[in-house]
Amino acid sequence: MKPWHAVLAAADDSLHQALGRFGRFRILLVVDAERRLLGTVTDGDVRRALLRGETMDAPLARIMNPHPRTIPLNTPRSAALTMMKSLDIYQLPVVDQGVVVDLLILSDMVELTGERPNWTVILAGGQGKRLRPLTEHLPKPMLTVGGQPILETIVQELAAHGLRRLYLAVNYKAEIIKRHFGDGGRFGVEIRYLEENEPLGTAGPLGLLPERPVDPLLVMNGDVLTKADFGQLLAFHESRAAGATVGVRLFEMEVPYGVLEFEGDRVSAIVEKPVQPFKVSAGIYALDPAVLPERPVPLDMPDLLRGVIASGGTVTGFPIHEYWIDIGRPPEFRQAAADFDALFVGS
Ligand code: GTP
Repeated sequence: MKPWHAVLAAADDSLHQALGRFGRFRILLVVDAERRLLGTVTDGDVRRALLRGETMDAPLARIMNPHPRTIPLNTPRSAALTMMKSLDIYQLPVVDQGVVVDLLILSDMVELTGERPNWTVILAGGQGKRLRPLTEHLPKPMLTVGGQPILETIVQELAAHGLRRLYLAVNYKAEIIKRHFGDGGRFGVEIRYLEENEPLGTAGPLGLLPERPVDPLLVMNGDVLTKADFGQLLAFHESRAAGATVGVRLFEMEVPYGVLEFEGDRVSAIVEKPVQPFKVSAGIYALDPAVLPERPVPLDMPDLLRGVIASGGTVTGFPIHEYWIDIGRPPEFRQAAADFDALFVGS
């Protein structure tokens, strides 16, 4: 049972029966037997009803607002928050074909989406060779998935987690990216550019930051679509006092043969098509400012991480179990397009 289930009420419940259940949600959701939303009752509705002469025995049907604001399932959190702020509403029921499936509360949303001090660098300068010819005219992060550039979805997700100061590390076809995102204002974020004269790899562009950040830096590939909780990753990183934290995915690889196990030259077991799990980098990192390169020299992220370990620092791993896809090759590009609507689209 979710906490908000406590505020579900029936249309024939009396005001007296229902009043004690407002709790921290400060709303009652009046639903039918199928949990279809019939209306909502807030403090204001109660006060107005009592003023017009309703008694405590009045059924909620007479007190509720029968046309409350709602949002459809899968609306991005950022859009829901914008709506709540602009309409000055504290609660927002989430409905799926009329049925209540969640209840958003402004204070929770602000906590979740409140601005974070951390800066983010998005690596968007690669040539995307494995996706040619699609990337002959567009850099990979600008390829369209779900009706908008991959990079735009990344920017929206970061913004929804309160990460609003973004650096885009660009090189290949940088102009296309800069023209689309400008200073980020259109997307509710502040965007600056790290521009390379030569490809600096996936860690080298960090040496182009105009100043050293104070807080841990989030770094991510510009071709990853994910519902990862960036705030939790940063919190985990800080709790471990790590030099670097790597987002980790489980990647399972099937050996397409019967695998033999031996004792000496005798076969002791045969395992048919075993699956081997590997922990792989998700292309999302939190970095302590002290481990950032001081100059823009070519450097890839694995080398930066090896350097941290070699100098006695700690590199930790943060498992990402939410949706995650790295758009490296045509099959992943197609998969991401197929997955997109269910995960990222709001309406
Ligand atoms: P392939 O050429 O197909 O390997 O793709 P890619 O190099 O564009 O992407 P890859 O998956 O290898 O790199 C991960 C991320 O880092 C992508 O978002 C790239 O845009 C980015 N990236 C790779 N190399 C560089 C670079 O030299 N500079 C910058 N700024 N970004 C890079």
